[in-house]
Amino acid sequence: MTDLFDTVYRRSLEDPRGFWAEAAADIVWTKPWDAVLDEEASPAPRWFVGGELNTCYNALDRHADGGRADQAALIYDSPVTGVTKSFTYSELRDLVARFAGVLARRGVEKGDRVIVYMPMIPEAVVAMLACARLGAVHSVVFGGFASNELAARIDDSEPKVVVSASCGIETARVIEYKSLLDKAIELARHKPTHCIIFQREMVKADLQPGRDLDWEEEMASTTPHPCVPVAATDPLYILYTSGTTGQPKGIVRDNGGHAVALKWTMKHIYNIEPGQVYWAASDVGWVVGHSYIVYGPLLYGCTTVLYEGKPVGTPDAGAFWRVIADHGVSCMFTAPTAIRAIRQQDPEGALIAGYDLSQFDSLFLAGERCDPDTLGWAQHMLGVPVIDHWWQTETGWAIVSNCLGIEPLTVVPGSPTRPVPGWDLRVMGPDGEDLPTGETGALCVKLPMPPGAFPTLWNAEQRFTDTYFSTYPGFYETADAGFIDEDGYVHVMARTDDVINVAGHRLSTGALEEVLTSHPDVAECAVLGVADVLKGQIPVGFLVLKAGAERDKKAVASDVIAMVRERIGPVAAFKLAVVVARLPKTRSGKILRATIAKIADGKSWTMPATVDDPEIFAEIGAALETLGYPR
Ligand code: COA
Ligand code: AMP
Repeated sequence: MTDLFDTVYRRSLEDPRGFWAEAAADIVWTKPWDAVLDEEASPAPRWFVGGELNTCYNALDRHADGGRADQAALIYDSPVTGVTKSFTYSELRDLVARFAGVLARRGVEKGDRVIVYMPMIPEAVVAMLACARLGAVHSVVFGGFASNELAARIDDSEPKVVVSASCGIETARVIEYKSLLDKAIELARHKPTHCIIFQREMVKADLQPGRDLDWEEEMASTTPHPCVPVAATDPLYILYTSGTTGQPKGIVRDNGGHAVALKWTMKHIYNIEPGQVYWAASDVGWVVGHSYIVYGPLLYGCTTVLYEGKPVGTPDAGAFWRVIADHGVSCMFTAPTAIRAIRQQDPEGALIAGYDLSQFDSLFLAGERCDPDTLGWAQHMLGVPVIDHWWQTETGWAIVSNCLGIEPLTVVPGSPTRPVPGWDLRVMGPDGEDLPTGETGALCVKLPMPPGAFPTLWNAEQRFTDTYFSTYPGFYETADAGFIDEDGYVHVMARTDDVINVAGHRLSTGALEEVLTSHPDVAECAVLGVADVLKGQIPVGFLVLKAGAERDKKAVASDVIAMVRERIGPVAAFKLAVVVARLPKTRSGKILRATIAKIADGKSWTMPATVDDPEIFAEIGAALETLGYPR
């Protein structure tokens, strides 16, 4: 098997055209491509240029018409409402075709954008696939973002229609999505023509006559819409993710490369067969949800699980094992933080014993660095391979992973193992030189990146070039730092930019700082991520007040916490802020974030030679102590 991996890997780099053309034969094309790869397209090459297809056809119709009509395509499991419901390929295709009819009747055409702001209900998947059916571009916005963030995405993507629901349910709390949406539209410059609202039983939202439409009423009076062929290079979706500034980056995914790559990963990385049950316990608002709740499993003819619940508290730390047993899940994907949450509540794994996991083959983890302890615990308790794999919203699928379909299980604690076929990964020094084995540097991918990786940023071609391709020409800069050890295993250590990772969610400290500095009493601030046993990292804000500040220190700290919740959303998990007299800086004025983080994490640190005022760290230490750090 190791030989097989080596052969496949080598071929993917030596003959990318032949390699991906073979994989593309697994997709139904309405028009064959003229060129597998257009390397002239700069800075990112384009795949399957001239080809046409429909992603929804490949995900639903070909299975519904080709022998899987009665197989479950989607199982909705919602412990928060007590509902479990299964949709066959034929049922899901019919629903999607009808909703595509609804969107078309409301003016949505190929290339138009549709924002999907929904909880984890089947209608979210139906809306995404209906856009794909029409060749419209969906942009799913995670429910934990505040109206402000939703408004920023509305303004950037300029949707014709927004699809939403009356509410979401966070364990026992009802979140009124519709009022958040109303506020976002009020804040946004761009106004969608229509909002289509799915009314859930717990809350019925008020509909604004003329603009808002009821999902059920629309579905009752529509006709199914056929699949519209699109160019392989046309956008399938935009997914916003955090960058260095408060302005989120709209990651674009194309249709052709995406379908080819994701379908290929199902066997090669996840080692699953069509007809088996695949479950990504993520949210449709994140890239994992796009790739592995919706597109990957459906393109491959698997049954996918849509889980509206949490790893703990819905109702207990056995919830994941219950879902695996109830639905016969073969392969599961989640974030390490979810496993840590389960372990905290059920350290001995007592709840696992109550469930029949005999069909369960493997657990994949991603979204943040996986600490060896968490991986070891899961492996020991579950008795199946537990695979850490590394990827990003930008790449759409794994850059580094143990590929269970073409190589034996390899466990290297702290490492997601080796680059996946298609990815030519390098570790580079500041001058663009390849660093020797074991030395930490910038993790970069030699171009061309394989199909499925992002071809651009929405409305921001220059930012695309500047952010990802300018420091190391000819390479994609991942913004992760790491090293490759002497056995060729990759160790991903930390971000090189201002992004922190909170419970598997990517957050920009710059965006948080923009909110903090908008407080009238704040002169300057710094936000950084400190270690957290559950969430991996959590943000802490340090505030310096203006002379003559009106409010006292504690009041300002609670003001900014409330402001972040209001403007960015609860997902930021911003609950710690403290006022200090000054921020530690270098003589050139750069805030010494890394040293503050070390103090907070209780790690050894040395006084930076460049610090302008060594005394300041004593005050930072005291401030952290008031917040309970180091823990
Ligand atoms: N809509 C509205 N609010 C949401 C939300 C949504 N879709 N998702 C999360 N929130 C809120 C939560 O209710 C919480 O609010 P609170 O501050 O009032 O408690 C806040 O956002 C933070 O949420 P979360 O990060 O989920 O923390 P938690 O403490 O509720 O749960 C975990 C902790 C570990 C159980 C949870 O983070 C988890 O399941 N993580 C897995 C992450 C994941 O799947 N990542 C995808 C990449 S694979
Ligand atoms: P996102 O784009 O939200 O999926 O976040 C991507 C970032 O999460 C990466 O750039 C890494 O910093 C981090 N990440 C994801 N998976 C891993 C992993 N397996 N190991 C280390 N870091 C990871």
